[in-house]
Amino acid sequence: MSILRCEQLSKQYRMGEVTVQAVDSLTASFTKGEFCTITGPSGSGKSTLLHMLGGLEQPTSGTVYYDQENLFAYNDDQLSVLRRRRFGFVFQAYNLVQELTGEENILLPVMLDKQTPDKAYLAKIVDILGIKNRLTHLPSALSGGEQQRIAIARALANKPSIVFADEPTGNLDAHAGREVLSLLKHASSELGVTLILVSHDLNIAEQAERVIQLEDGKIVFDSASTGN
Ligand SMILES: Nc1ncnc2c1ncn2[C@@H]1O[C@H](COP(=O)(O)OP(=O)(O)OP(=O)(O)O)[C@@H](O)[C@H]1O
Ligand SMILES: [Mg+2]
Repeated sequence: MSILRCEQLSKQYRMGEVTVQAVDSLTASFTKGEFCTITGPSGSGKSTLLHMLGGLEQPTSGTVYYDQENLFAYNDDQLSVLRRRRFGFVFQAYNLVQELTGEENILLPVMLDKQTPDKAYLAKIVDILGIKNRLTHLPSALSGGEQQRIAIARALANKPSIVFADEPTGNLDAHAGREVLSLLKHASSELGVTLILVSHDLNIAEQAERVIQLEDGKIVFDSASTGN
């Protein structure tokens, strides 16, 4: 069952006289619960595509449907509520609030949404990610891998149906990167979350069930459509 779909999605950036076609009439669909990586060279449009799929950036043309609903037919407030409740985001720079402890960072999206934390669910995430003894620390007292695990817990805190991750291991060394990726993958599959992950690293891309490769804003390979 398709949970997310984009049709003829395009994004152009105008830089003075020059127009950059970052994403070019791209059509794709993502199945509930799948783990898909989007790979391709620098500048191929991976982040731009991910941001549009996650409703963070408006396309120049084309549509994104989440659960059959056109994301960009929502107004800004409706879209931010949908993003907060249904989507989780993980970025290369962990983007933790430095003044808050690990636990407070994880709870932030739940608090912002004025929801009551589901303690049992959060305990499960903390357990899967192995961060129980890191919850009272400030980000400055955590390693990069630990900060990213807190950021992943934060992305999962609102029980999203899709997690979007953009180069989540980009700031980590190879060992920490592998560990974070494997935890993100494990947490998503345990919780039935769809994971769409951008990485230019083929070792990472290969760990997904499905690999989409971009070049010049277009799909040049999709393992889902070749049966590979
Ligand atoms: N805000 C922007 N303004 C102008 N051009 C942009 C902007 N964002 C992206 N671009 C251009 O769009 C193209 C695609 O960029 P994008 O960041 O999506 O690539 P990417 O595949 O994520 O690259 P990387 O692997 O380096 O992160 C590039 O040519 C980039 O310069
Ligand atoms: Mg990028």
